[in-house]
Amino acid sequence: MTETEPVVHKGLVGVIVDTTEISRVDPASNSLLYRGYPVQELAARCSFEEVAWLLWHGGLPTPGELAALQADERAQRVLSDRLRAVVDRMPTWAHPMDVLRTAVSVMGAEDPTITDPSREASLTASVRLLAQVPAVIAYDQRRRRGDGVVPPRDDLDYSENFLHMTFGEVPDAVVVDAFRVSMVLYAEHSFNASTFTARVITSTLSDLYSAVVGAIGALKGSLHGGANEEVMVMFDEIGSAAQVPDWLDTALLDKRKIMGFGHRVYKNGDSRVPTMKAALDSLVAHFHREDLGELYTALEDAMEVRKGIRPNLDYPSGPAYHLMGFDRATFTPLFVASRLTGWTAHVMEQRAANALIRPLAAYAGPAERHL
Ligand code: COA
Repeated sequence: MTETEPVVHKGLVGVIVDTTEISRVDPASNSLLYRGYPVQELAARCSFEEVAWLLWHGGLPTPGELAALQADERAQRVLSDRLRAVVDRMPTWAHPMDVLRTAVSVMGAEDPTITDPSREASLTASVRLLAQVPAVIAYDQRRRRGDGVVPPRDDLDYSENFLHMTFGEVPDAVVVDAFRVSMVLYAEHSFNASTFTARVITSTLSDLYSAVVGAIGALKGSLHGGANEEVMVMFDEIGSAAQVPDWLDTALLDKRKIMGFGHRVYKNGDSRVPTMKAALDSLVAHFHREDLGELYTALEDAMEVRKGIRPNLDYPSGPAYHLMGFDRATFTPLFVASRLTGWTAHVMEQRAANALIRPLAAYAGPAERHL
């Protein structure tokens, strides 16, 4: 390389583009903190609503603040007729992520305060998304199955109501708790691709809904949130624990990426996996699906031996959502329902100290030429 050649940071690997106070991912200590709190402690002790408040406000809510947030969220769970009509017009062969992306776009168009950049308006819009994204996901899954709509119940908390709207009943506590844990673990992860997308959009002074729509598009990819769906597709393809060695030999020979393994930041295991794996174990025992648990462990062990690559959060959450009864294509929308809390926290942080995000590129095309 000559001195004048620019250094290209392909994939922005290792590049620090800004500061954030929202979360700290530390691969060296294998830890993840939301506003200073270890995510494992939050998953053990907090509701998802408390975590949403923490991400947005920087500290845990007082009992009064939590009650106000819960009342606000419960009051906004009903979708407008317009929004439901838009979802109804989407083909049932469309991916639920495409339906959800369109639904959030409609929510933005419906919000008369969409151009208000104040923190207060952003918080109001964030709570609206918190309340309505689950309603869209539940409505869409039921529509695809030909099931009738289940209206929200304002005597239920976020997780119970989400599951009730989807399945028509509140499942056993072990299922509700595994779901709550997944929501807490998926909520925030620093400058990942979808969050960065939301910040790039915000940096142009665009609106919060546009940032979330763009983030949904980024999350959809199988190298990011789409992996939780792909894990179950892969488990189906493998079949059973006994078939793991042969399947993995072929997959690695074909240079396939094994879904649910590896991470851009964590190179020695994802800090969220043990907590989600414990939730998955409780579901495996509850539903007597030890076969699924054995397949999980067989592939994890084989990947460790063959590649030295460990699972990421999508590996346990995919089978966990499957056992809860969600359709595969709904897994990534569940990730959206959670991560929108982190995205919107980042929108507010970006706005508070904005700089247009506009990197440079090293031109590698033809030298100047003329017609
Ligand atoms: N399966 C097989 N090999 C993998 C792998 C996986 N899941 N993840 C990484 N590797 C291998 C790569 O092939 C590469 O090997 P090489 O050096 O021999 O070419 C090496 O590990 C480094 O991988 P790379 O793709 O450069 O790492 P990255 O930081 O760019 O990618 C991911 C991180 C997450 C995109 C990648 O691990 C991946 O594709 N995982 C599967 C999808 C997934 O689970 N995504 C959810 C992420 S939370």
